[in-house]
Amino acid sequence: MTTPTMIDPNRVFIFDTTLRDGEQSPGCTMTSAEKLEVARQLARLGVDIIEAGFPAASPDDLAAVQRIAREIGTADGPTICGLSRAREKDILTCWEGVKDAAKPRIHTFLGMSDIHMKYINNITREEGLKIVRDAVKLASSLSPDVEFSPMDAGRADIRYVIEACATAIEAGARTLNIPDTVGYVTPEEWGDFIGQLIAETPGGGVGSGVIWSVHCHNDLGLATANTLAGVLAGARQAEVTINGIGERAGNTSLEEVVMAIHTRGKIYGLTTGINTREIVKTSRMVSNYTGMSVQPNKAIVGANAFSHEAGIHQDGMLKHASTFEIMTPDTVGWTQSKLVLGKHSGRHALRERLKEMGHMLEGDALNQVFARFKDLADAKKTVTDADLEALLTDEFEGPEEIFSLVDIQVTCGTMGLPTATIKMKNAAGEEVIEAAVGSGPVDASFRALDRVVQAPNNLVEYSVHSITEGIDAMGEVTVRIATVEGERRTYGGYGADDDIIVASVKAYLAALNRMVAAMGLAGHQPEGDAASVGIAPTASPTA
Ligand code: KIV
Ligand code: ZN
Repeated sequence: MTTPTMIDPNRVFIFDTTLRDGEQSPGCTMTSAEKLEVARQLARLGVDIIEAGFPAASPDDLAAVQRIAREIGTADGPTICGLSRAREKDILTCWEGVKDAAKPRIHTFLGMSDIHMKYINNITREEGLKIVRDAVKLASSLSPDVEFSPMDAGRADIRYVIEACATAIEAGARTLNIPDTVGYVTPEEWGDFIGQLIAETPGGGVGSGVIWSVHCHNDLGLATANTLAGVLAGARQAEVTINGIGERAGNTSLEEVVMAIHTRGKIYGLTTGINTREIVKTSRMVSNYTGMSVQPNKAIVGANAFSHEAGIHQDGMLKHASTFEIMTPDTVGWTQSKLVLGKHSGRHALRERLKEMGHMLEGDALNQVFARFKDLADAKKTVTDADLEALLTDEFEGPEEIFSLVDIQVTCGTMGLPTATIKMKNAAGEEVIEAAVGSGPVDASFRALDRVVQAPNNLVEYSVHSITEGIDAMGEVTVRIATVEGERRTYGGYGADDDIIVASVKAYLAALNRMVAAMGLAGHQPEGDAASVGIAPTASPTA
C-alpha cells in the first residue's frame, strides 16, 4: 500500500478516482460519511493512491477530503490526493484538503488539446506552458508529491504534450498523468503515444524517477484496453474507478485492469498491491452508495460473471472449473453461495458464519442482524451468504436516517386500486401515517412516501434483482432520483428484503434521505400530537 522509495519497475500503482472522477458523474453523489466509508474500503482493497475529491469545488468537498486525509491517510495507508485546476486559489485549497495525510498529493491539470486551448482556456501555447510551470511550482512548494495532467492529451499534439510534461517535470511534478479525457484513442495508438512520451520527454525517461500514468475514459468501450496498452508501453500508474463509474460512459474499471494484470501474468509480467478478494465487496459498496447498479454481465463484478447457464458449460464446470473459468470467483471475493443457515440456526451459528465471511459482529449489532435473519429464515427455507451480505448492507450501510420506515401495508391485484399505507418517523422522532393510491404497488408506496417526505423529485432509475435463485429469493432494489428544481443533482438508494415492495420502499427512502440531507429539506411535520392521514391523487407525477 505504501509508495516504495526504491521503485519496483514491475509494480503498477493503482490510483483510484472513484471519489473524484466517479463521484462527480451524474447520479453518483455520495454523502461525506459514505465517502469516508468508501475510502476506508479502498484502503482495505490496497489501492496506492486515493483521489479523494476536488477540494475547491465546494466547502463540503473540502471537508470530505480533509476527513479522508486525517482518518485514512495514515503512515501505512494510501497516499491521499486532491484534484485542483492550475490556479493559485484551487491549489491552496487542495493543499488544505490533503495536507494532514501522512502522504499527501496535489494533482493539478490544464486542458492542452487545441480544442481545449481554444474553447476552454482561450490562451496561446506559450501562455499554457507558463500556467503549467507556475501551477506545478506552487504545488511543489506546498506538497512533496505533485501530479500533473495535460487534459485531453488523447486529442492533443504530442509535441505540445511533451513540452508541457517537460515543463511540469522541471517545475517539480513526479507523476505525469496522461488522460484520454473523451475516450477517443485506440489501444495501438495509445501505446505508441505513451511510449513516445516516455522516450522523448526531457527529464522523464526510464531511470528518471518520474512515474508515467494513464487515465482513460470509456466512450468507445476501450478504456481498459487503452489503459493496459499504456501500461505495456511503460506507464506505471493506472487511474481507475470501482465499477468503472465516471463521466459519461465512465472511467477505466479497477477490477478489469487489476484482474487482467493478475490473470495474464505472462503477458504483462507486472504486479499491483491490490487484495483482489476485496474487489466484490468494494464494488457492492460503491453500487449501493451511488445507486448505480452493476450490469449483470459486467466483467468480474457482474452477477453473471461466474454463472454458467448452457448445458455444455455446466457439464464442463462439473468436471473441472478450469473448463470455463479463467479465474476463480473467490479470488475476487465472491463467496460461494453455500446453503448454510435455516430457521433452526441459532445466534451462535449466525455469528460463526458471519465471522467466516469476514464480519465480526457482537452485542447489539449481532442482535439486530439475528432478528433480521430470523424473519428471513421464516420466509425462506435457506439463507445463503449472498442473502446475508445483502442483509448486512441493508442494515448498516445506508445514509443517515432522517426519515425512517416503521410499517408499510399494500393492497393490490386485479380488484380495486393499488393502495399503500405507510407509517414513518420523521427527524423529530414523531410518527406520521400517510396513504396513497397508484398505478401499481410500488407506485402507490412511493406516492405515500412522497406525501411524508415532501422532496419533489423525478425517479430516473429503478432496478430490481434477486440475490439468489428461487421464488423465495431476497430482492435487491436500487433507485436513483433527480432534483426537479435548481441545479440537477441525482441521489441513489439501495434496499434489500425478501418482500420486493419493502425493498423498493427502503431503496427509495434511502435516496430521499440523501436528497433531504443534501438540500436541507424539512419534510412533512405532523400537526399537534395527532398522526396525519391522507390519500394522494393518482395523477401525481412520481414513480
Ligand atoms: O479526464 C480527465 O482528463 C480528468 C483529468 C482532470 C485528469 O479527469
Ligand atoms: Zn477523467
